[in-house]
Amino acid sequence: MIREEALRLQSLVDRLLAPHRRHIANDVNIHEVLERVRSIILAEYPHGLQVKRDYDISLPMLAADKEQLIQVVLNIGKNAVQAMQGSGELVFRTRVARQVTLARKRHNLALKLQIIDNGPGIPEEIRNHVFYPLVTGRAEGTGLGLTLAQTFVHQHGGTIEFESRPGYTCFTVLMPFGPDQ
Ligand SMILES: Nc1ncnc2c1ncn2[C@@H]1O[C@H](COP(=O)(O)OP(=O)(O)OP(=O)(O)O)[C@@H](O)[C@H]1O
Ligand SMILES: [Mg+2]
Repeated sequence: MIREEALRLQSLVDRLLAPHRRHIANDVNIHEVLERVRSIILAEYPHGLQVKRDYDISLPMLAADKEQLIQVVLNIGKNAVQAMQGSGELVFRTRVARQVTLARKRHNLALKLQIIDNGPGIPEEIRNHVFYPLVTGRAEGTGLGLTLAQTFVHQHGGTIEFESRPGYTCFTVLMPFGPDQ
């Protein structure tokens, strides 16, 4: 898993540094992405953490960049686990959203992905700025995780938002399944 992660990060960095071939659109199964992130997070936090799956397995494939999607879910999920100090409950939920407008485009179908934790919630002082670079609530944080997640979601024509209060934080990513849907 470490070798796989190192390769994945290298390819991600390569693409960040090469703006013209940044985005690779392939058929991606969102549940493969979630299962991958789930095992990475559980390997890092083997005690006291539950990662529940609430999947709609009838969802179509996404035309998307799998490495980027893994990074999106990993960045959001890791924040949640860090806020819960490694023990608590994380939920990965997938649903279909119908008739949504994303980036001024109307879509009949879109993916609705939610990553929910029961940790303390996003600190009030930074709630309005968490997507900005260098905004962090952690002593050892760089404040880039959510910025990168948002950039990747936008590159897919999607949106990312959250709701947060003590005991409940939910990040919602909406993303079109493909250019023609
Ligand atoms: N689920 C969450 N629960 C509580 N706080 C959160 C949650 N998600 C994000 N935050 C807060 O938002 C801040 C910004 O997150 P972001 O991922 O952008 O940066 P970071 O985690 O501090 O650093 P990096 O991800 O670059 O290592 C976090 O430091 C944390 O304070
Ligand atoms: Mg982070």
